[in-house]
Amino acid sequence: MIQPAQMRALVAGAFGQLATEVPESIDVPVIEGALPDTLRGVLLRNGPGRSSRGGVEYGHPFDGDGFLQRLEFRDGRARYSARFVRTREFEAEEAADRILYRGFGTNRPGGFLPNALRMRFKNAANTSVVQHAGHTLALWEGGLPHRFDPDSLETLDRFSYDGALEGTGFLQRIIGPELPFSAHPSICPETGELWNFGTAYGAPHRLLIHTVSPAGDLSTRALPMRDLPFVHDMVLTRNFVVFVLPATVFDVPATLLGLRSPVDSISMRDAPGKALLVPRDGGPPISLAVPPGFVFHWSGAWEDGDTVVLEGIEYPGFPRLESLDVVFDQPDASELLARPIRLTIDLSKRTVEHTVLADIWMELPSQVGAGAHRVMLGVGAPQSCRHPFLSAVVRIAGEGPPLMHDLAPDLPGEPVVAGDHLLVPLYRHGAAAQVVVMTVDDLAVVARIQLPHSVPLPLHGTWLAADEAA
Ligand SMILES: [Fe+2]
Repeated sequence: MIQPAQMRALVAGAFGQLATEVPESIDVPVIEGALPDTLRGVLLRNGPGRSSRGGVEYGHPFDGDGFLQRLEFRDGRARYSARFVRTREFEAEEAADRILYRGFGTNRPGGFLPNALRMRFKNAANTSVVQHAGHTLALWEGGLPHRFDPDSLETLDRFSYDGALEGTGFLQRIIGPELPFSAHPSICPETGELWNFGTAYGAPHRLLIHTVSPAGDLSTRALPMRDLPFVHDMVLTRNFVVFVLPATVFDVPATLLGLRSPVDSISMRDAPGKALLVPRDGGPPISLAVPPGFVFHWSGAWEDGDTVVLEGIEYPGFPRLESLDVVFDQPDASELLARPIRLTIDLSKRTVEHTVLADIWMELPSQVGAGAHRVMLGVGAPQSCRHPFLSAVVRIAGEGPPLMHDLAPDLPGEPVVAGDHLLVPLYRHGAAAQVVVMTVDDLAVVARIQLPHSVPLPLHGTWLAADEAA
């Protein structure tokens, strides 16, 4: 477990540095253990790669420009490259060397006037990566995906599925010319469809549910919404797309008038949330109240007869992270600490059961298997830890106690599942980053890869097994 005294320097480094590109793929050494023969494919990750522009800090840690990392495993060797996503906003700010756009948690310098009625935000393209229908996309939840070459990491274009993600109508073109396409899509293993969503401001507000066929054709179903809840993730089951809508309130005028950034315009009422189960076949949605709480990430979900089970990581309220100093100034800010939970939705009785899976802190979860045999994986810490930076990799299997492999004083990022192994990025203070290869079964470290540079911790990534990556 990382001690508080180590934290300030660690966090400042992990989120405050400027990543350097490695545009040409290079061999990277395995400095411990050996790469398994079965590990063949490409790991693609995305995350904020720089946190300031022209000497001015962005207003939120998640506003950093998208930085892609690629790690290819073949014949017991690993090769590495890394590049920024060249969005049009990145190119413009690079040329001007100053902040030109508002962001998720950033207003332009200069106070109210430079921000009032400016609804063109920087597409940070920094949250995740998905490959589907022959396209490899860097994702950001507030705007269009960016297509890139999965081999060279070269940015190809802003990708709208042949215009399907471009807004229509006068009002839409003024206030939101691009339809949001979240950073947490799901690909159905049975149909090959990609499902995704976005929340769009308007009259009325809308929850947009996108379906992309295996051939790459996008269609959208729009559900009118009275409120504009903040939703970051969804789950896909055999019959439903499931959202859990928190009791968040978005102060639209404050953002429109430039008084506050979008994230600073979000607050949360102490009220139940709503589980919204939208039938994949187009039927009417089913809505049920769920206990108060806020979930960024679901690890997975499954159906069992008339029951739909969701598992994820729940905060007691909306975690406000205006500045990383919050975690030092408010060591008991419990809304920054989240636990693994399960929601068991009984569709015949119309009930929702809420269960805490383990008394630990967790984030960045994923799931292997489903039902009674599912394994939940993520980063975590024991509850004695009083800050949201989690130094262990965690495994929860069945109903048993969690297994934790603490990597302190290094800081692990999202473990990405690659067959029987996990690929875990490590931020190391004052040293170049590493990637550890662990077994899914017992979290043993089987190999440690040395990267050539220090980089901020990535957010989300994806594994392309050799047959998919070819
Ligand atoms: Fe996320």
